[in-house]
Amino acid sequence: MSEDNDFEGVVKELQQKIDRDEEETYSKKVIKEYRNPVNFGFIENPDATGQVKGPCNDTMRMDLRIKDNVVQDACFWTDGCGASLACGNMLTSMIKGKNIEELDGISSEQLLEVLDGLPKEHQHCARLAVDTLHEVIKDCHKKGG
Ligand code: FES
Repeated sequence: MSEDNDFEGVVKELQQKIDRDEEETYSKKVIKEYRNPVNFGFIENPDATGQVKGPCNDTMRMDLRIKDNVVQDACFWTDGCGASLACGNMLTSMIKGKNIEELDGISSEQLLEVLDGLPKEHQHCARLAVDTLHEVIKDCHKKGG
């Protein structure tokens, strides 16, 4: 076996170990959301926006496009951990098509349930996402939405 093949083998083994550790720590849904965060990004001139810095010092921002009081589009951005990516992505997917009034009722417990849970040390990441949503709702009301 060449040195190149040896190196590839070590990298492959390492990747498999990372994947196994990830699967032991996070639910399938969480992994799916953070590996492909389709709502990650910004909306140009959003109708409502909000940003929150969590106790872990990570930030999340959320932008909404709203028409006739209904969320047409939702994006999020975060500099936080993988769990925060999963939470932001799931939450923005959940709120698309909903009335602004319905958003108030969404709790971090509900988000955690939809994601099939998070390890205790990452549950605050779900709160960061929901707190950010609440900031967006405040912005909506400020703008008369
Ligand atoms: Fe800060 Fe997850 S958002 S640790």
